[in-house]
Amino acid sequence: MKLFDVYPLYEVTLVSAKGIEVIDDKGNIYLDFYGGHAVISIGHSHPHYVKRLKDQLDKIAFYSNSVQNPLQRELAQKLGEQSGCEDYAFFMCNSGAEANENALKMASFHTGKAKVIAFKNSFHGRTSAAVAATDNPKINAPINQQQKVDFLPLNNFEAFEKTIAKGDHCAVILEAIQGVGGLDEPTTEFYQFIAEKCKKNGIVLIADEVQSGFGRSGKFFAFQHHGVTPDIISTAKGMGNGFPVGGVLIHEKFKASYGLLGTTFGGNHLACAATLAVLEVLQNENLIENATALGTYYKEKAQEIQQVKQVKGRGLMLGLEFEHEVSELRKKLIYNQHMFTGGSANKNLLRFLPALNITKEHIDIFFERLKKELLTT
Ligand SMILES: Cc1ncc(COP(=O)(O)O)c(C=O)c1O
Repeated sequence: MKLFDVYPLYEVTLVSAKGIEVIDDKGNIYLDFYGGHAVISIGHSHPHYVKRLKDQLDKIAFYSNSVQNPLQRELAQKLGEQSGCEDYAFFMCNSGAEANENALKMASFHTGKAKVIAFKNSFHGRTSAAVAATDNPKINAPINQQQKVDFLPLNNFEAFEKTIAKGDHCAVILEAIQGVGGLDEPTTEFYQFIAEKCKKNGIVLIADEVQSGFGRSGKFFAFQHHGVTPDIISTAKGMGNGFPVGGVLIHEKFKASYGLLGTTFGGNHLACAATLAVLEVLQNENLIENATALGTYYKEKAQEIQQVKQVKGRGLMLGLEFEHEVSELRKKLIYNQHMFTGGSANKNLLRFLPALNITKEHIDIFFERLKKELLTT
């Protein structure tokens, strides 16, 4: 059987990885400034992570959500403490799309309404309601288009106010830093305005922290840069450092009942061990502080590159905007300079999404190699 051919692939076969380095089948070492799309948060094969997973594998890898799993409770406790979100309850699932699917479902159950507000250039996943709330008609099949979503421009107060006046929305879903969209952000004033309007009008505010969460932006969650309190927070990617895991933090004002949400694999023992290891490393190695400090350093270094029109993002969720498209540059950076970088819907944006434990030296190497490649472009 052939593979269903949906991914344009680079001609690289990775066989091992350590820290920020990924190594191919010919022994070439690449620097991973992409993190497999913002997934690698504490570095490839971090020893604590590997040990936690191996130890768990030796005990029990999986059982369904029909028996007690103390690891889930330990994780919820730690996550609440470390994120400062102790007024929430935790539901575990398997991916970012599934986290948003559950968040939107909770909003609809809670309000009895079905319509959603999302923003232009948003990306929330590829499943039913999540893809309907994603601003990309190419990945919305007719079956998804049955969902009712209003897409509004970011930071447009008037459009928001006018749209919610209809009174038929269950949820507003937004990214504090748009990932796939290209690092645009709501202003603090706009995020606070939305939060206040949602509260007044009984609309559920969903913070999609799938890409920006778990420290990537320099705060545990990126909405925390804006002093708002979302009703539901969705998370995945960096949460498991590569182990497929997602989750929703649901404010305590929502009441749970048996069967309301569910999943076979979500919250399994290995997923809990992976996420606990990530939380422990984030804390023990002060990685969120490191993301802030290195984000500032990166922005200073970016000033040295004339061709850069704008530096976007926060923490280690960053990008350099050029006057030209970057897809060729990304290829050359892989093949000639042995560095992985990210792209986005903004074709001129070169994204930088490394593990949160990189050093200044890694950033120096990134800019040296980028300069070298720009000279020949
Ligand atoms: C902000 C955001 N939400 C949701 C998703 C979907 O996550 P997944 O691919 O794990 O379903 C992504 C993936 O890129 C994302 O960036």
